[in-house]
Amino acid sequence: MHIYRHSDVLLSQLSELIPKTIGLVPTMGALHKGHLSLIEKAVSENDWVIVTIFVNPTQFDSNTDLVNYPSNLEQDLELLSPFGEKLMVYTPRADDLYGEKAVAGSYQFDILEKTMEGASRSGHFQGVATVVHKLLSVFKPTKAYFGEKDYQQLQIIHALVAQLKLPVTIVDCPIVRETDGLAMSSRNTRLTPIQRAIAPVIYETLCKAVALKKQTSILQINEWVTAFFREHPHIELDYFCVANNQTLQLVEETNGEENLRAFIAVKLGEVRLIDNVKF
Ligand code: PAF
Repeated sequence: MHIYRHSDVLLSQLSELIPKTIGLVPTMGALHKGHLSLIEKAVSENDWVIVTIFVNPTQFDSNTDLVNYPSNLEQDLELLSPFGEKLMVYTPRADDLYGEKAVAGSYQFDILEKTMEGASRSGHFQGVATVVHKLLSVFKPTKAYFGEKDYQQLQIIHALVAQLKLPVTIVDCPIVRETDGLAMSSRNTRLTPIQRAIAPVIYETLCKAVALKKQTSILQINEWVTAFFREHPHIELDYFCVANNQTLQLVEETNGEENLRAFIAVKLGEVRLIDNVKF
């Protein structure tokens, strides 16, 4: 495993290597089994794999969230070392990617960025698109790997690649869950033991919503979820919704088709968690 602070050094090393299909796994560090599943897939499908560890400032709308984002490079590198020689780890400072000033670019994603996370986190997806666009342009990977946990982000990245006709295959990777169902997330480490014990109710609610669809309308399921969390002493519901799995247009009626997904975002104290399932 090789570690790089500067993309030009990584690229010059890469230019000496053949053959070279390149897998890219962008991360913000605080790695967990969800990230490792992306990296395993990338390693199995490519000659070289670049894992980026970079807490991207332009995707945070709040400085507190940016400052509190968990980071532990030493532990991340320990988790990555078993992947061996195929792995190149890029952990830059902001100026290596952004130059003097880290500012987001301007992209048009319409409904994809206005709904759900976009409604709650102003400018978030412009920042995500900016850094992913930069990473794809600098490293020109054959494939890039993203998790379905951030499902809306994944659709934004598909849209980015399609709009700009970037020559890369985006690989969608399934959500990895703890044994009690909680979706793995770097933010889980910020939960108190009590919050961690309660957190599986997020996934349980999504599963109940899916089970209910046979007997009731999406509107009523929405009301049930809202009422459930209104009574919950520790969890505040930000949103629950069912949407088309590609356009992310909200739907209120099941259409008998296989193209729907249920989404949820909640706050446990200061920690905001999201999850989603096929609906
Ligand atoms: O999902 C993440 O960790 C980040 O949004 C990403 C894709 C690495 C961009 O900073």
